[in-house]
Amino acid sequence: MNGITLLSTGKALPQKCVTNNDMAAIVETSDEWISSRTGISTRYFCQEQEQSWQLAAKAAKEAVEKANISVEEIGLCIVATMSPPFATPSVACLVQRELELPSDTLCFDLNAACTGFVYTLETARALLATNEKPYGLLIGCESLSRIVDFSDRNTCVLFGDGAAAVVVQRSNSQFFAMHGAKGNDKALVCPGYGAEKQYLTMDGKAVFRFAVESIPHCINEILNASSLTLEDIDYIVCHQANRRIIDSVIRQMKAPAEKFYMNLQHYGNTSAASIPLALADMQQQNLLRPGAKLLCVGFGGGFTWGASLVCWKEKE
Ligand code: UT7
Repeated sequence: MNGITLLSTGKALPQKCVTNNDMAAIVETSDEWISSRTGISTRYFCQEQEQSWQLAAKAAKEAVEKANISVEEIGLCIVATMSPPFATPSVACLVQRELELPSDTLCFDLNAACTGFVYTLETARALLATNEKPYGLLIGCESLSRIVDFSDRNTCVLFGDGAAAVVVQRSNSQFFAMHGAKGNDKALVCPGYGAEKQYLTMDGKAVFRFAVESIPHCINEILNASSLTLEDIDYIVCHQANRRIIDSVIRQMKAPAEKFYMNLQHYGNTSAASIPLALADMQQQNLLRPGAKLLCVGFGGGFTWGASLVCWKEKE
């Protein structure tokens, strides 16, 4: 048994929903510009009293309840994030406390920017292969509003906060993964903790170009490795950054648009949380049948990229 399947999801959003018109009151922008250039209509921002780890714990609790498993059976808790509230404790340790996960749970945060959640899938697969316990808790969680420069209209309208969690189980189901990284310290940078100017900066066009090249590359590598075709895949769940990026991939690959799930209109770009948030909405919308083949594709700062082909539950 050296694969994993996805069992359940949970999600949590900050209370405050911010529309494009709300953003136009902060920077010189418009609903028309944001909608037509990105597809985004709303996003959620944490208010002062809201912490991303609280969202992570709430999402995780929901996923564990829906999976109907005991926390004693969870062997690892990995949180993908590039905007943790603390260097230490990790968000994963705070989730462990809130959910009362056993003290032998392997808990850590993983930063691969927007590719973070895809990296957690392969990490969980590898670690569960030798773990005594059958289940892993994988979370994507961001409070990007804390690292975004609200005077920079090139970036602040794009991002949002949120968290989502997935319970995975060690299994014999098909699992294929590919990953990559290429040191780039210019296109998407955030100095972070303690830096005088801690805000995120981005060369949007460079990231766009990278995205529309790397997504088809990731998809094709997984299809080749698994000897499957696009027809065999139920859904392709890309990192939700910009509708135009996904539309461009659909055109390039001459792929059926309905296979590419999108919910970025509601949440904006939530970095490592975007793929699990999509999975959570897909579960809520009853789109996932047991045995469904899901191809998750991430790309982002670093540059990093990666894809995992994973099944939703075991076939009935
Ligand atoms: O998770 C990965 C994270 N990053 C991304 O996914 C970003 C990928 N890149 C993109 O999505 C796009 O490049 C953006 C949405 C960021 C920008 O779209 P674009 O079509 O590449 O626009 P642009 O940067 O070429 O800007 C076009 C114009 C500029 O004005 P001028 O120079 O033509 O007069 C910008 O100043 O739009 C202006 N502009 C805005 N106008 C209104 C830039 N941001 C805004 C804004 N509102 N928020």
